[in-house]
Amino acid sequence: GQCGCCTVLVDGAPRVACVTPLARVADRSVTTVDGLDDVAEWAEAFTSTGASQCGFCTPGIIVRLASTRADVDDALLAHLCRCTGWQTIREACDVARSGAAVARRDVELASRRAAIEGGTAQRVGPHIALGGGGFADDGPPPGALVAVPATDGGWIVAETLIEARARAGRPPGRRGTIEPRPPIEVPPGDWAITLQTSWVEPGYLEPDAAWCEPGGEPASPLANGGAFGGKVASPAPAAARMLADEHGRAVRVVLSREDVVRLGPKRPPLAAGVRADGTGVVRVVRTPGIADAITAAAPGLAVEEVDVAGLPTSAALRAAGWAEAGALLAAVRGERRVQVTAPSGASAWAERADDGAIAVGVRCGPVLEAVTLRSFCIGAAHMALSWVTSEAIAVDDEGRPLDLTIRSFGIVRAKDMPPVTVDIDDGDGPPVNGSDAVFAAVAGAVWVALGCPPRWPTTRRRVS
Ligand code: FES
Repeated sequence: GQCGCCTVLVDGAPRVACVTPLARVADRSVTTVDGLDDVAEWAEAFTSTGASQCGFCTPGIIVRLASTRADVDDALLAHLCRCTGWQTIREACDVARSGAAVARRDVELASRRAAIEGGTAQRVGPHIALGGGGFADDGPPPGALVAVPATDGGWIVAETLIEARARAGRPPGRRGTIEPRPPIEVPPGDWAITLQTSWVEPGYLEPDAAWCEPGGEPASPLANGGAFGGKVASPAPAAARMLADEHGRAVRVVLSREDVVRLGPKRPPLAAGVRADGTGVVRVVRTPGIADAITAAAPGLAVEEVDVAGLPTSAALRAAGWAEAGALLAAVRGERRVQVTAPSGASAWAERADDGAIAVGVRCGPVLEAVTLRSFCIGAAHMALSWVTSEAIAVDDEGRPLDLTIRSFGIVRAKDMPPVTVDIDDGDGPPVNGSDAVFAAVAGAVWVALGCPPRWPTTRRRVS
């Protein structure tokens, strides 16, 4: 009942299906997105504005918006979207409610740009907005066994998901009662700027899943998006293949939200001190590739990797290391307009105005399709703002995460998201990822505009 993705109408009123017992809908009418009278218009509106990327959240959002004339940001309080940054959803709602003509898009070029920005194959079109993108757990054969993570690091395999989860014996997800704190102390020294970051959950909406036939290739958990690096090292496909071979039957591996928080890789937290000349020391949770990512962006920073009881980490998460390094250098320079060059060769700038509005610019080779690139840049701006100002999860001294619900991660709501303007510069050479550069530039620009408070998140705002 946390993310709103499964919203349906029960006798015309929006309800989240996952926590609605069947007995409560007996003799009542249930309408899914496919049953809406104006479903095609909503799908076209979402497509025309780039309001659906992976598409996991979109059917539920369309169902709710189609059922109400309420203010769009109020209606979106019941939902979470991790890709779009909300603004294009507002625009899609305006288009659908006004009946305005929709702009046609080149879905081939849009898909190419989406794959570059998302880091994995991604399709674009009205069917995506209606949940037709193909999700990781869509295709297992009937009768497949179901596997869920066990507490000892193995897998519980059963005939049904309910039985597997009952045998796993996990308490339901909950939000912790202790406040998150950065796990690493700032290195000693005389610093112009210091920063401590916290454990952050990538918070992708579609939890990992995979399935496999004996002797077959496992289905990818990446589905219609790669969760911005969050699912690259997912344990689900290898487990599905191993268990299918072991049991001689098809096996579905299904992670719950709590499993994702416990097992999924996190951005390595760090603590840094930087002098006015850009030299300094960064202590970061030991993670393959993170030291190179930091020093490539900021050669004056010495990196010390430290072992911290905590969660798995990965340098594959969006701009890990180089976004933090870029923010530190922007902070010592004190520039409101933050300029970043990404390892991809893309460049971006960002600036936060006094009223909170965010302006970004990006140059990442040939645009291919501007609606897609703009949508990913706005989503990146939201993700950066949310990370710097609001997101963290509490982790206890033994390294166990305590915030296990998606609403406890601190993801910034539609209501709290300022407007973002995107200036796209067409470039030469091959098209490269631009939204990661936007993410890094916005993180730096927000931090500088707030006066460089020494801890991220600067203010934690949990969604209720
Ligand atoms: Fe909303 Fe991906 S499009 S979560």
